[in-house]
Amino acid sequence: MNILGIETSCDETAVAIVQDGKTVLINLIASSIAKHQKYGGIVPEIAARDQIKQIIPLIRTALQETGLNWGKIDKIAVTEKPGLISSLLVGINTAQTLAWLKQKPLLKIDHVKGHIYANWLEQQNKIQFPIMILTVSGGHNEMMLMHAHDNFELIGETLDDAAGEAFDKVAKMLGLGYPGGPVVSKLAEKGNPQAFKFPRSLNQNDNFNFSFSGLKTAVLYTLRDITKQALSSRQLKQSVQKYEQHALACCSQQTLSKQTKADLCASFQAAVCDSLSKKLVKAAEKYAVKEVHLAGGVSANFYLRQIVQERMNVSEALKNVPLRYPKKIAYCTDNAAMIAAAAFF
Ligand code: KG4
Ligand code: ZN
Repeated sequence: MNILGIETSCDETAVAIVQDGKTVLINLIASSIAKHQKYGGIVPEIAARDQIKQIIPLIRTALQETGLNWGKIDKIAVTEKPGLISSLLVGINTAQTLAWLKQKPLLKIDHVKGHIYANWLEQQNKIQFPIMILTVSGGHNEMMLMHAHDNFELIGETLDDAAGEAFDKVAKMLGLGYPGGPVVSKLAEKGNPQAFKFPRSLNQNDNFNFSFSGLKTAVLYTLRDITKQALSSRQLKQSVQKYEQHALACCSQQTLSKQTKADLCASFQAAVCDSLSKKLVKAAEKYAVKEVHLAGGVSANFYLRQIVQERMNVSEALKNVPLRYPKKIAYCTDNAAMIAAAAFF
């Protein structure tokens, strides 16, 4: 069965055709990220206007490049929620119109469930239930126990920021641009994860919820203190107090050494991944799962993958349990193939 997937929940316009929920025939993505960079985050109006221009040409390209005609498309799947409302509407209206015009069944898919099904893409092995899944991205941070297809139990979630959002904010403070995850993790490779002591929130044994706003503030205060120490001019000191984040981003670019930035990134990344991995592994042990999965944009983070695997290796209950994450980095971040896979299953 061939499913045409459409995903427009944030800045990207994504179209894919997936066979039987696993074989990716084509996976196209057009991002408007460059147009948002000067604002330090996504501007919904700009995103939606770009998506209107991109969506039809992308669908045409997908059909042309796979050599498929509409007769070979069995169903259409589209992200329904959550996301930027104006962006979601572009995808939903396009999918609804095509479904009516071409007489195809339409499936509306939850974006977070889409991320979860990214682990089925190009997967040769049979996936065993139950699974403990950590879905971490810029907009969501949830731990789910998956009993069977379309049967999820929420085990924990963030009480404030998502992990990816924290990566993005720290990047902004350091003047590293958007999105923050890839650049922070790259810099962290050269840094010392023990250089700064950042807090691990909600550290109690049986608490499976997450919180990253305290960590974000701790990074901000640390940055403020080292930036202040480095500044000699009184005027600049006052501007730090007055404009906080914005001024910090400007000042830290000039005053922080490359090594200090790398150490801040490494220590921040270690704190985020420590909380995520500890809770994921504890939950996986408690519910005696057969598999552990990572999904969402932050699952592209190599340090997170590594630390989860290390913790599982030293756990009696989990040492023989497989850890899966999406087969390609392109399936970790937002894409339409995962939406088509979720629709199939
Ligand atoms: O899944 P996604 O594309 O969009 C949402 O549904 O939110 O995730 C984007 C998020 C951003 O916050 C980005 O900074 C983060 O994923 N991200 C990473 C990495 N690559 C992307 N975070 C940490 N390490 C990475 N390598
Ligand atoms: Zn997403």
